Amino acid sequence: TSADTLLPPVTVTVTGAAGQIGYASLFRIANGDMLGKNQPVRLRLLEIPQARQAAEGTAMELADGAFPLLESVDVFDDAAQAFDGTGFGLLIGSKPRQKGMERGDLLEANAGIFSVQGAALNEAAADDVRIVVVGNPANTNALIASSHAPDIPSERFTAMTRLDHNRALAQIAHATGSPVGDVERMTIWGNHSATQVPDLDQVTIAGRPVRDVLSERGLGEEWVRTSFIPTVAQRGAEIIAVRGGSSVASAAHAALDHVHDWVLGTPDGDWTSMAVVSDGSYGVDEGLISSFPVTCRSGEYEINHGVDLSEDARRRLESSVSELREERDTIRAKGLLGPKAGH
Ligand code: NAD
Ligand code: LMR
Repeated sequence: TSADTLLPPVTVTVTGAAGQIGYASLFRIANGDMLGKNQPVRLRLLEIPQARQAAEGTAMELADGAFPLLESVDVFDDAAQAFDGTGFGLLIGSKPRQKGMERGDLLEANAGIFSVQGAALNEAAADDVRIVVVGNPANTNALIASSHAPDIPSERFTAMTRLDHNRALAQIAHATGSPVGDVERMTIWGNHSATQVPDLDQVTIAGRPVRDVLSERGLGEEWVRTSFIPTVAQRGAEIIAVRGGSSVASAAHAALDHVHDWVLGTPDGDWTSMAVVSDGSYGVDEGLISSFPVTCRSGEYEINHGVDLSEDARRRLESSVSELREERDTIRAKGLLGPKAGH
C-alpha cells in the first residue's frame, strides 16, 4: 500500500495488554489484520499497576516489529487516560476461569473492572467509539460497562461470541468434509456460556442447505443435538481441560474478526454473530446484550430480523435469555449497574 492511500490514523485501546489474549492480539492489530492494510493505528495499552511494566515490555517489542502502520504505543494504568480519544476499545483485561468453573462464576470478580471502564469510556472516548468486551462473563460485562456510559449509545457496546461462531464453522466444515470458507449463515444466539444456542438451521455450504450435505454423510438431528451443539457450547471448557488454560490465540483471532467485520462489513449473502444490545426481537428482553445474527455495512451492524427460529432453538434461546436476566439481576442487586436508562 503506498502512503498516499493511507487513511487518517485511529486510536485503539487494548485492556489487559500484558495478558495472554492481549499479547496475541497487539502484534496483529499493529500489522493491519484488524482494520486493514491502509489503516494506521495508535495503540493505547491499559494494565493494572502491577502489570504495567510487563506492558511496557510488550510496547518495546511492538516497536521492534517496525510495523509500518503503527504510529505510536502508549502504556497506562489509568482507564480514563487509556481511553482518551479512543475509537476502538478491546476490553480483554479480566480474570479468566479455571477448570471446573462456569464463566458466570467470574461475575463478581470482574464486574468492578467494567463499571470503572464504562465510566472512563464515557468521559474520554471518541464520539464514534466501538467497544468489544472479551473478558468473561462477556455479555454481562458489556452491559455493566454500557450502563456506566450514559452518553455512549448502547449499540456501541458489544460482546464477543465470534469465537463460538468460528468454532461452529469449524465443526460443520469438519463433519461435512467442506472447506470452512464455504460455510455461511451460521448463528450463535444468547449468552457466551454453556447455554448459548449454536444454530445451523440457516447454514449453507457452497450455497447448499447444510442438512442436505449432512444427510449425505449419514448425519441428522441426532448429530446436531448430541454432538454439534454440545461440542460448540462446551468448547471453552474442553480447551481449558486439554490445554491447561483458557483459549488465547483463537480468542484473539475472533476479537480481530469481530472488529474487522463490524468496520469493513460482512460478505454479501452471509452474516456473523455478535452479542449486541437487544431491540426486543426474537423474544430477547430489550436492553440485554445477547448474541444475534448481524449484518455489517459501512461501519454499522444491524440485527438480521429475517431468521426463522425452530421450536427447539427458540426454547434453548429462552433459557439463555433467563440466564442473562439472572446475571443482570445479580449485578443490579449489588448496585453495580450504572445510571444509563434502558437496561
Ligand atoms: P490473562 O490473565 O492472561 O490476562 C488478563 C490481563 O488483564 C492480566 O494481564 C491482568 O493484569 C489484566 N487486567 C486485570 N484487571 C485489569 C484492569 N482493571 N484493567 C486492565 N487490565 C486488567 O487472561 P486472558 O487469557 O488474556 O483472558 C482475558 C479474559 O478473556 C478472561 O476473562 C477470559 O475468560 C476471557 N475470554 C473470553 C473469550 C470469549 O470468547 N468472549 C475467549 C477467551 C477468553
Ligand atoms: C472461551 O470460550 O474459550 C472463553 O470464554 C474462555 C472460557 O472460559 O471458556
